[in-house]
Amino acid sequence: MQPRSLLLIISGSIAAYKSLELIRLLRARSVSVTTILTRGGAEFITPLAVSSLTGTKTYSDLFSLTDEVEMGHIELSRSADMILVAPASANIIAQMAQGACGDLATTALLATNKPVVIAPAMNHKMWEHPATKRNIAQLRADGITILEPTEGDMACGEFGIGRMMEPEEVVEHLFAGQHAHLPLAGKHAIVTSGPTHEPVDPVRYLGNKSSGKQGHAIAAALAAAGARVSLICGNVTLPTPEGVTLIRATTSESMYEAVHACLPADMFVGAAAVADWRASHIAPHKIKKHGARSKLTLELLPTKDILASIGLHKQRPALVIGFAAETENLEKHAAHKRETKGADWIIGNNVADDVFGADSNEIIIFREGSAESFPRLSKTAVAEAIVSRIAEFFESQAPKKKSTRKKA
Ligand code: CTP
Repeated sequence: MQPRSLLLIISGSIAAYKSLELIRLLRARSVSVTTILTRGGAEFITPLAVSSLTGTKTYSDLFSLTDEVEMGHIELSRSADMILVAPASANIIAQMAQGACGDLATTALLATNKPVVIAPAMNHKMWEHPATKRNIAQLRADGITILEPTEGDMACGEFGIGRMMEPEEVVEHLFAGQHAHLPLAGKHAIVTSGPTHEPVDPVRYLGNKSSGKQGHAIAAALAAAGARVSLICGNVTLPTPEGVTLIRATTSESMYEAVHACLPADMFVGAAAVADWRASHIAPHKIKKHGARSKLTLELLPTKDILASIGLHKQRPALVIGFAAETENLEKHAAHKRETKGADWIIGNNVADDVFGADSNEIIIFREGSAESFPRLSKTAVAEAIVSRIAEFFESQAPKKKSTRKKA
């Protein structure tokens, strides 16, 4: 049921702040979002904040002549592929269950001919109340999809079930049906891409050559294969691939933190050019040259090895893939990195001839006891080849379906 356009109704709950992140995630997946902000919703977030993220008008008034001329409420209720009510307060749920239509949001919900999904958010006692239970049962019977609230601390200080589902999970649910047939549907991939920059002073940094093109192409290919992709991106200027969640991390330390915050995952692909050293002291002001012969000595400390930290982690993903960019002895160095960093595969490439920033790449996939070489291919084709091997890996791990054929 993947929507290309969505009418988002934001009703009155403290969880309304989550709908801002939700809009951002939907926009990252190229979904166009139109919003109705109820009077209650507008007590928590402003139309300006919503419109800044959607890039479109935020509707709220049923009897606004100008809105009605631009887009009538009936048209509004049917113009999108789907209506999502997030957060759905106990009040809007009760009104929906009764078919009440006293404002723009409930009128749109009653007039629509499109699928409706709701993400309830309320105090746990309100969620457990028999009236809410009845209303939810009614909405289910009416064909409305309920994204169940989760358990946790409430804004009111109490604990229980009633927290709105996290925006990332909401998006996952919206896209789940669409991806079900794809080979990596339901899998979470963490991909690192691009170089980290380790500051020396406010204007200088240490970094590796890297464009991020290969890492971004892998993230795009994983998303196209149905995976949920968290792309932890260093200093690159490339457009964000469609369907991935982008997390920017400019230094090795912030990339390390971001990767760990994304666990658990089914796979990790470490394509970033993480700087190996950082300055032991970052000068607070620009370091000045004193004459043409001025020398500078920097003390450098090793950075944390992100790939090794994941390869040897207690929440280790089922498949851990690293890269080895070498100028000599590719096989020997790749084998060493595979072993010491706890990786399943190392993707080796010879960087003696400059591949940085280029659009093509020549790789070898080193696994335990085997090496598979590929000819020089575009970075997109390299990514597709890697992702097809990843899909084969998960296919081989999946429990075998029982044969229905009878033995002769
Ligand atoms: N890597 C990492 N964290 C680091 C350094 C490297 O996660 N601090 C990862 C890279 O993303 C890549 C793999 O480790 O997947 C190998 O990186 P590479 O730079 O080729 O190797 P190094 O371990 O840095 O060793 P050397 O520089 O000596 O070749």
